[in-house]
Amino acid sequence: MPDPKAQIQAILNDLPDSALQDLLAALQGAPSTAATTQLNLGGKGYQVMVQGGTAYIGDQLNVDAAMLEAVLNKLITERQQSTVSGIPNNLPRSGAVEFVGRETDLANLHIQLHQTNCVAITAVRGMGGIGKTELALRYALHHRNQGTYPSGICWLQAKEQDIGTKIVNYAIDQLGLNVPTDIDLSRQAQFCWRNWPGDSDVLVVIDDVSGPDDNAAYAAIKPYLPPQETRFWVLLTTRLQLGTSIQTVPLDVLSEAASLDLLRSLVKAERVNRELDTAQQLCHWLGYLPLGLELVGRFLARKPRWTLAKMQQQLEEKRLAAKALCQAQSDMTATHESLTAAFELTWQDLDEPVQELAYRLCLFALAPIPWPWIEAWYDDIDTDELDEWRDEGLVNHSLLS
Ligand SMILES: Nc1ncnc2c1ncn2[C@@H]1O[C@H](COP(=O)(O)OP(=O)(O)OP(=O)(O)O)[C@@H](O)[C@H]1O
Ligand SMILES: [Mg+2]
Repeated sequence: MPDPKAQIQAILNDLPDSALQDLLAALQGAPSTAATTQLNLGGKGYQVMVQGGTAYIGDQLNVDAAMLEAVLNKLITERQQSTVSGIPNNLPRSGAVEFVGRETDLANLHIQLHQTNCVAITAVRGMGGIGKTELALRYALHHRNQGTYPSGICWLQAKEQDIGTKIVNYAIDQLGLNVPTDIDLSRQAQFCWRNWPGDSDVLVVIDDVSGPDDNAAYAAIKPYLPPQETRFWVLLTTRLQLGTSIQTVPLDVLSEAASLDLLRSLVKAERVNRELDTAQQLCHWLGYLPLGLELVGRFLARKPRWTLAKMQQQLEEKRLAAKALCQAQSDMTATHESLTAAFELTWQDLDEPVQELAYRLCLFALAPIPWPWIEAWYDDIDTDELDEWRDEGLVNHSLLS
């Protein structure tokens, strides 16, 4: 069941410190009688109306004003602690209303990271949207609050820009380092690691390491990685299977219970519980994939009159073209505009012959495929090359197991 406190916290998380302080002051000043205090908060434009003992947040949450006050106090204290402890970080905001499941993955991640120095979160199967970035983000947020990495948490988006530039920007903005500009970028990055202020641990997250194959993807980040066996702990997320020297935490789709909780966190819990059988079928239809569940949950939240059965019917009829799967919202952690776009991204990473091999394999039933049949089909192609398309292309992109 979604925790109402977690729901309020997820909304308040997005608001700036000043808005939280304003709301707390208004709550504390509001008489417990019928008087009304109305606030329009922060960049997200949340409307909060406090009337007697009830707070109305946006148009979806009615909560006890005392509970809102308690959550606010906790959040403000946490933020103050994070500022007081002075842990430099540039963590992005999570768009998940509630982070569900993954308790074991979080624990494993910490153990494995501290056994090796560098760990990659990968997907057990399929496509993007399984929750690699969200898991890395939750890990980093949790350990920021715990103070596990006192000398900083550095979040680097591998895709957008050269990560060397990002490391240098972080060092300048967050650490006040004076980075020499007359040396090449990889040496500038190494300068940053060597001169990183403090002597405690640092967490470096490199999100979405990608490329046409694992070698190219790893080669692109390698010159910028911190020296091994130091106080730097490196966490990667990737759709690829990187080299064997890099430990992986393979992530699977959510359990049914966690999938239902994800839906409940977005749609009113009563609505899910009222049609529990259909909700279970929906989760199954969506392959328990967090991205699909989130898209459908957010769509249902915008359609309060829709039954889950109607949603299911629409998905059955329109499949990936269903509106629910094509209308991502900008506050989501995921950056895809649709489920198809998430799939496309993995697909575009593949070379043409590998795509063709995938088409051919799609003609087979969902059962083990004897490889000699495929070799016979490709009698003009060297078997080593064919093996490489299969392993480097399809297996490494988690499209085949
Ligand atoms: N455990 C979870 N609880 C709640 N929401 C989740 C969870 N895991 C993932 N999500 C949500 O699902 C969406 C997809 O997750 P995410 O972006 O982390 O996938 P990904 O594996 O990094 O995908 P890609 O390979 O495309 O980068 C996000 O919007 C995220 O907030
Ligand atoms: Mg990601």
